[in-house]
Amino acid sequence: MSIQTRNKKLNDWVKEVADLCTPDNVVLCDGSQAEYDRMIKIAVDGSLATPLNPTKRPGCYLFRSDPSDVARVENRTYIASKTKEAAGPTNNWIDPDELKGIMKGLYKGCMKGRIMYIIPFSMGPIGSNIAKIGVEITDSPYVVINMHIMTRVGKKVIDVLGEDGEFIPCIHSVGKPLAKGESDNGMWPCAPIDKKYISHFPETREIWSYGSGYGGNALLGKKCLALRIASVVARDEGWLAEHMLILKITNTKGVVKYVAAAFPSACGKTNLAMLIPTVPGWKVETIGDDIAWMKYGDDGRLYAINPESGFFGVAPGTSDDSNLSAMKSIESNSIFTNVALTEDKDVWWEGIGYDPPGELVDWTGKDWVYDKGNKEQKPASHPNARFTAPASQCPVIAPEWEDPRGVPISAILFGGRRPHTIPLVHQAKNWNHGVFIGSIVGSEITAAALDLKAGTVRRDPFAMLPFCGYHMGDYFRHWINIAKKTTEDKLPKIFFVNWFRKAEDGKWLWPGYGENSRVLKWVFERCEGTGKAIETAIGWMPTVDAIDRPASVTKEDMKELLLLDKEGWMTELADVRENHYSKFGDKLPKELADLLTSVENDLKK
Ligand code: OXD
Ligand code: MN
Repeated sequence: MSIQTRNKKLNDWVKEVADLCTPDNVVLCDGSQAEYDRMIKIAVDGSLATPLNPTKRPGCYLFRSDPSDVARVENRTYIASKTKEAAGPTNNWIDPDELKGIMKGLYKGCMKGRIMYIIPFSMGPIGSNIAKIGVEITDSPYVVINMHIMTRVGKKVIDVLGEDGEFIPCIHSVGKPLAKGESDNGMWPCAPIDKKYISHFPETREIWSYGSGYGGNALLGKKCLALRIASVVARDEGWLAEHMLILKITNTKGVVKYVAAAFPSACGKTNLAMLIPTVPGWKVETIGDDIAWMKYGDDGRLYAINPESGFFGVAPGTSDDSNLSAMKSIESNSIFTNVALTEDKDVWWEGIGYDPPGELVDWTGKDWVYDKGNKEQKPASHPNARFTAPASQCPVIAPEWEDPRGVPISAILFGGRRPHTIPLVHQAKNWNHGVFIGSIVGSEITAAALDLKAGTVRRDPFAMLPFCGYHMGDYFRHWINIAKKTTEDKLPKIFFVNWFRKAEDGKWLWPGYGENSRVLKWVFERCEGTGKAIETAIGWMPTVDAIDRPASVTKEDMKELLLLDKEGWMTELADVRENHYSKFGDKLPKELADLLTSVENDLKK
């Protein structure tokens, strides 16, 4: 069983995988609406998807996954480079031959009773010199549906591939073969946790995923290709593949700047990308909400594209107040996974902004009645429940979001959830100091997840900890080296932001959301060479009157937000030295080790 395209390498690979996985049939996806509708029908007929109310949410469907398959599984995610050293201290490593042996055993016959779909997809506008082509083989109609939204799928990609075009091969199986006459019977197919593998082979640029049908484990264009494999390709080819949103800011005079921003997962990237500014007359538009690929243009500036074409956003907490544009993006033609269902077949989740309108069916398929005030009640939607929506439906998507040349980046922001120490915003003194800032990003663990103690800081350099496909020390080196291709004045300015500061009594010091536009305004002004600032040990900090105060923030709060907490920083940097930088051994660039010492010395002055 195979397919016939002009690309022999593709045809041969598909045949090889089909021979191993033995599906009942092989189908080459064309990316058409008819194909999307066919996949939806399969899912609905198999009771895996529920059509939502066509008046309230036309073209929308709800899926419920298996409770063992609700999120990315970092401890089952592998970087199988030839040596452990190449994967570095922050990745799970298995020898590639050993891992391929294990996985071939699992893949053998794993698609029995299922159809094998071949999804040719482009990350980035088709034909852009920044874009890359992947082909995902999957036995999941849910994956085909979501890949249609999140990437550019279909015939045009095959055309660009031609006879000898390169593609990144991605294999995915839910890991649940069907016996003759057996069906999923409404049960989300997946394999048990200890059989799930999300594997990356950086040297051969391959992705093999088995046992999970969910999100980044299964939609292989996203975290697997656009970050883990792309980070390796970017290192080799001299560009950057980053876990960053991209936004466009226009000031009252019509001057435009583009900003990229990296935050660890669950720090509100989608909200920032779609922010509605409270600064009068300023406008923010979206280019992307999760991933940025950046390459130099002929003018020596970094140009970024959003390689994706949709949003795979966390539903809980999304409301008209927190993100009106996301709410509008998901009014139609969207997929919901693991949210609650209302009696009139609409969706509901915690933090949607209103109480449940009657009884619900929760994400596990059970009836759920709201017990107001009962803090122990299990949530109706899973905390990692998602919406998948076409980016083109976002009311604030920038017209140039698909420009194949990308957009020139003026500023890069790093941030995380930090209740203490890190001020609202500060600016790096230069590029290498910005790399230092990116390398020490951390975010507070909000629940006792990931076996870490709630309240502790998890270092997540460049917000790439789960997404960097090689040694993190080499990745820091790549960031330092990339600047050498141009001059400092052409490089984006780098900033550290923190929307999550708390007062002693635990109250938020900064309102966040649309009010973050006040910080963006200062960033914009700094890029213009204006914007009042003073130089300190940690970088340039706004003077206390440089950022307009939101009504809810007192003068005292503002002082606190912009204070240089020398003692806190000394503790912070001691932690960086002992528990973070120490991991990278001689791969830690000397420039960063020196910066750590010099910032510490400056703090002591
Ligand atoms: C995501 C993540 O899903 O970062 O985007 O976890
Ligand atoms: Mn992300």
